[in-house]
Amino acid sequence: MKKLLSAVALSAVMLTSTGLSAKEIIIKFSHVVAENTPKGQMANKFRDLVAERLAGKVKVEVFPNAQLFGDNKVLEAILLGDVQLAAPSLSKFKKYTKKLQVFDLPFLFNNMDAVEKFQNSPAGKGLLRSMESKGLIGLGYLHNGLKQMSASKPLRVPADANGLKFRIMSSDVLAAQFQAVGALPLKKPFSEVFTLLQTKAIDGQENTWSNIYSKKFFEVQPYISETNHGALDYLIITSAEFWNGLPADIRAELEKALNEAVALGNKVAIEKSVKDRQKIIDSGRSTVLTLTPEEIAKWRAAMKPVWTKFEDQIGKDLIAAAAASN
Ligand code: SIN
Repeated sequence: MKKLLSAVALSAVMLTSTGLSAKEIIIKFSHVVAENTPKGQMANKFRDLVAERLAGKVKVEVFPNAQLFGDNKVLEAILLGDVQLAAPSLSKFKKYTKKLQVFDLPFLFNNMDAVEKFQNSPAGKGLLRSMESKGLIGLGYLHNGLKQMSASKPLRVPADANGLKFRIMSSDVLAAQFQAVGALPLKKPFSEVFTLLQTKAIDGQENTWSNIYSKKFFEVQPYISETNHGALDYLIITSAEFWNGLPADIRAELEKALNEAVALGNKVAIEKSVKDRQKIIDSGRSTVLTLTPEEIAKWRAAMKPVWTKFEDQIGKDLIAAAAASN
């Protein structure tokens, strides 16, 4: 019997010696970012709402900064019942579905409003259940923001990235995106990025303002190009066995609390994309390069063939639906 049953189902139904009350359900929420990020704040809000509303019935324990699992292991951990909730970046699901790769296509979304619109569309909502046959259920999306490229040298046009090593998340689309500009992509866990940059084992990386700020990448990367070339958002994920095994009233309360926590996380995401960008500029540690529309057009043209390359895996219709949200 899977550990999941010991962690949840048993604790949910096992009565105490008096036979009057059920044991508390423990939900471990594992993530890799700092607590002062959109995801960190969302997870803590969810924990607090559950403590307020389901005291004695459900307890959420949050493990930030990859304390428990990195993103490369957390989905397995969910399936094994070692944790019950996580919110990996949408770029980290390729082992379970190819469809979510749509979010990685470079320059697909013009802004975060388009990302939001696509996620709320029938096609976007359908993706939440795209891994159910593999035992995973998406409970909702959470925003972080648009990605920027940081490097050891100024990147203005694609040729500037030629030959440089970039850390990427575990996504083949992101690998193709950097290969398209002659760069060398390396798939590495988030928890290793700072050290890789600091020791100059890699030359650059792509990330959002809040991740670049909270993990201090700006202190070891002299240049950040404001490319806004892709979205970094999250899927809140759980195991189908765990979720479907919860009493319906508890599941409904958890869903409500999650939605409220996501609303807070999304608000923090908008605020942080502005404030953390400014804090990086004010620090003087890294130069933020604003690119001209002509320079951006060059990156877009160089990376656009990646869409065709992944069309068969993702589906032409899905790409078209996402593009239509702009
Ligand atoms: C995250 O925001 O959860 C991590 C993103 C990354 O791996 O770069």
